[in-house]
Amino acid sequence: MQLLIFKTKSMKVTVDQEACIGCGTCELMCSQCFRLEDGKAQVIRDNCEGVECDLQDVIDSCPVEAIKLVQEEE
Ligand code: F3S
Repeated sequence: MQLLIFKTKSMKVTVDQEACIGCGTCELMCSQCFRLEDGKAQVIRDNCEGVECDLQDVIDSCPVEAIKLVQEEE
């Protein structure tokens, strides 16, 4: 099942460091937003707006569902 997630300016991309198994799929799909460091994916942009990747596709491609969109605190 595929979920649609609507990203707004108050949403932020995060990687659950406990869940990430370091497969590297996110970095392969969008090296402008994700980078592997010490075997775990890091988000290297505060938000991915304006970057030419399909963030939803990257989120759906993570095998352990470690990539999340979370509400930013105001
Ligand atoms: Fe980790 Fe998922 Fe990326 S396992 S390396 S966050 S695709």
